[in-house]
Amino acid sequence: MTVTAEELSVFAASFNPANWFDGVRAHTAVYRDERIYELEMERVFHSSWVYVGHESEIAEPGDYRLVRVGRQRMLLVRGHDGAIRLLRNRCTHRGTELCQAPSGNANAFRCHYHGWTFHNTGELVGVSFPDGYPGGTAKHGRDLWSAPRLDSYRGFVFASLRPDVPALREHLGPATDYIDGYVDHAGGRELCVDACAHTSRYRGNWKLQVENGVDGYHANFTHSSFFAVMQRRTGKQSRYIVQEEGGCTRDLGHGHVVLDQSEVAGEVLSRRLATLPGFDGLSAERLGLVEDEYRALLEANAGPGYNLSVFPNLQLIGIHIREIEPVAVDETVITLKPLMIKAAPPAINGLRRRYHELFWGPAGFGTPDDLEMLGRVHDGNRPVDGWVSFERGTHRLENGDHGPRAAITDEVPQRGLYSQWAALLSQPFTAGRK
Ligand code: FES
Ligand SMILES: [Fe+2]
Repeated sequence: MTVTAEELSVFAASFNPANWFDGVRAHTAVYRDERIYELEMERVFHSSWVYVGHESEIAEPGDYRLVRVGRQRMLLVRGHDGAIRLLRNRCTHRGTELCQAPSGNANAFRCHYHGWTFHNTGELVGVSFPDGYPGGTAKHGRDLWSAPRLDSYRGFVFASLRPDVPALREHLGPATDYIDGYVDHAGGRELCVDACAHTSRYRGNWKLQVENGVDGYHANFTHSSFFAVMQRRTGKQSRYIVQEEGGCTRDLGHGHVVLDQSEVAGEVLSRRLATLPGFDGLSAERLGLVEDEYRALLEANAGPGYNLSVFPNLQLIGIHIREIEPVAVDETVITLKPLMIKAAPPAINGLRRRYHELFWGPAGFGTPDDLEMLGRVHDGNRPVDGWVSFERGTHRLENGDHGPRAAITDEVPQRGLYSQWAALLSQPFTAGRK
């Protein structure tokens, strides 16, 4: 951070989100101003629910993985007691980063500097040469700091570094319906994170990914080469959106938004599946499945057909979990974690993996196009004091069951996420609290 705490305090004292997002436009500074980025770390990532992992990634007692919440390096751990905690990855002696391995299984974490040892519940259980502390008092109050709020919904684990936030269910609101649909898209069969997760880094602000993951306007243009290839392979129309009919965009509240193509994408996605290597040789008989089960698994491989964005850092797209990790105001890491069907035959999950890779893989048709476009948005906006537009569809907004909805190409999701951004950034600023 090159902004000093003093500069930030002065900026925060007079910060008015309405000057940067007017309801339908965002100022280009939201992508590049370090002071705004630091406020986001404090008021969004350190002050509200954020996604920290999937239960299947820490299935066994002792399983852990490193996660970053805003500026904080944390350990998501399942303790020996089976409880999940989010512990600060910082030794309470002198602050050394405790664990370096990105994931693993451990009963305890031992600091490499002076050897203090913490149980996987965060409790300090060993101080080396304890006689150096009067009466062995070094242990008192030195357990690892633990996030005060942690809860999960259908396997998705969220935490808040601040205690005074609403219950998770209340925060998620109607987004739970879409999470349910996502979790149940394989007919109730259990889903688990695949080992083939992959990470990409792009030049640009984290909100560009949030915008893009629920952008129904860009696909025909950014991904035109993909649709052309699919058309050649299948001999059929391969776009989901030919006119603007069918599907919708929705603002579900609290920054959670959805691009729902489930009505229009099913047939196209199934055709896409049929082009994959390994598909032709598959049959119910070969896999030892009854025909209905086989058909249901194939259908599940195309995913539920919508992109859900859970503000600020989780997206459910295709058959994968997408984690969004801000690194700096102009640098973002995204991690894509395909979900496999736990009890499905390997050939079905293999096809599922190929399906993910085809478009969303690091060398797939979609992800490189999108990341290139985010970099270009960054380059275009960085030197300019101006505005970007999210006005599309304001004239044809409807009130749906769960809040505003509009056509599939409309910018309801972008307005929804920036509305929550503005609400959170209106909170009082307390520099250095966490
Ligand atoms: S910093 Fe960890 S034991 Fe000293
Ligand atoms: Fe895209």
